[in-house]
Parts: sequence; C-alpha cells; structure tokens
Amino acid sequence: MKVLIHADPARALDCTAGLLAARLQRQPDAVLGLATGGTMEAVYARLIAAYKRGEVSFGQARSFNLDEYVGVAPDHPASYWHYMREHLLDHVDIAPGAALLPRGDTPNPEAEAATYERAIVEAGDIGLQLLGLGANGHIGFNEPTSSLASLTRVKTLTRSTREANARFFEDPAQVPRLAITMGIGTILRADEVLLLAYGEGKADAARAMIEGPLSAACPASALQLHRKATVVLDAAAASKLALRDYYEEVHPDGRDVPI
Ligand code: F6R
Repeated sequence: MKVLIHADPARALDCTAGLLAARLQRQPDAVLGLATGGTMEAVYARLIAAYKRGEVSFGQARSFNLDEYVGVAPDHPASYWHYMREHLLDHVDIAPGAALLPRGDTPNPEAEAATYERAIVEAGDIGLQLLGLGANGHIGFNEPTSSLASLTRVKTLTRSTREANARFFEDPAQVPRLAITMGIGTILRADEVLLLAYGEGKADAARAMIEGPLSAACPASALQLHRKATVVLDAAAASKLALRDYYEEVHPDGRDVPI
C-alpha cells in the first residue's frame, strides 16, 4: 500500500484529482469506479477545472459508482445519481449512458445488484477505483463485518453511517436503511485503487485500514490485499499512524516519487 501524506486537505485533494486525471491521460477509455460523499466534492471540482482547461477528457471513459440508496429515485435530491450529475457528470464530456449507478428505486434491489455486478464484469472490471473512507472503516457501503469477498449486494447501513449522511436529506428520518453497494471483492478486482481521507475524524479508520489487522471489523483493511492501492491522507487523518515517519520518508510531502 502506498501511503501519501500531505500537509493539508487542499494538497491531498490536488494529489487525488491529479492521479485520477493521470490515469485518464494514460488511458482515455478507462473504466472508472467513482464515489460520492463530502470528501469527493472537491475532487470532482478539480477534475471539472482540469477538463475546462483542456487537460483531461472523459469522452471515451466509462464509470460505475460504488453505491446508491435503496428506495431513492435518480431524481431525488439526495440520490447519488443526483449527486454525480451535480458534482461531475453534467460538467464534463462523458458520453450519455457511459456513467452508471445502481438503480435505487427498483422493485427488486437484489436483482439490480446482481445485474450491476455483471455489468462491471462485462466492462472488464474497474480500471481505477476512487474511494472515500467511512469513520467506521467502511468503503462503498460495506459496513463493518461485511464479507471481504463480497460482491455487489444490498447492505443495511449502520446507525452511525445514517447519522453521518443525514445532512444530505431534508429530514434525518428519511435516510434509507438499505443501500446497494459494490462488494469488497468487486473493489479488490479493480486494477488500481485510490482512497482519499482527510480530517481528524478519519484518523482512527485510517490507522485500522493501513496498520490494523486484516479484518472485516474494518472493511477498508481489505485494501492491504490489493497490489496497487494508493491511500492519500492529510496530516490530521495520518495523525494516528505508528509508521508515519516511514511513509513520509518514502514519499516526502506526499509525492509519488519513483525510488
Ligand atoms: C459513498 C461511499 C462512502 C463514502 C464514505 C465517506 O459513495 O462510498 O464510502 O466515501 O462514507 O463519506 P464522506 O466523504 O462524506 O466522509
């Protein structure tokens, strides 16, 4: 696992957006795995700016988002479909139909999850998977005790995740209890994984992910099994790492320098 520690969130965001843009420049028809949440808003803002400067194009790319709430239609303001249109898709040149998310308002969420998993396999799996980190160590909506081999399926959200995401809903009571999420096994099949976390609130989860035991108690620890996982942190999220000095020696100022 490559651990890149930056002095502040802005640099961590620049780094993450830069790594994703570099993948698209290298491979314009990349299959991207995309995430939502507060962390990603400023990543997408940077990618839109890079697109407007002519540095990057999504014209040949395809994307699969990690997750969607069950029972929430694409036009609902708190849906991840809505989030993606607002924060990225409506502002770049991605082709119509090239960006996919699970349908939350389907009558059969389990069948939708299986269809989504098949679509990812048929696309040749994800090239670069972008991830945020839940304060409880979740990736996608794979909550603690999720199978580390899981595929796309329906998961029950923990109370802490529902509380953390209540800010996106008009009424906290509206936060769904269920979500369709890519599984940890689905994520681990990606060619490359890029996780961004910043802020003190993510420090415990970052430590468990990077230095803790491989355990379903911290789903993100499964990334220890991935051959090409990059974790981008700011100083606050890195503050509880026991081997922080080592990571900073290998990658001064979070630079992904070849040795
Ligand atoms: C959302 C997702 C989640 C978030 C995580 C962090 O698609 O996959 O795992 O990345 O809950 O959320 P924020 O960024 O809001 O702290």
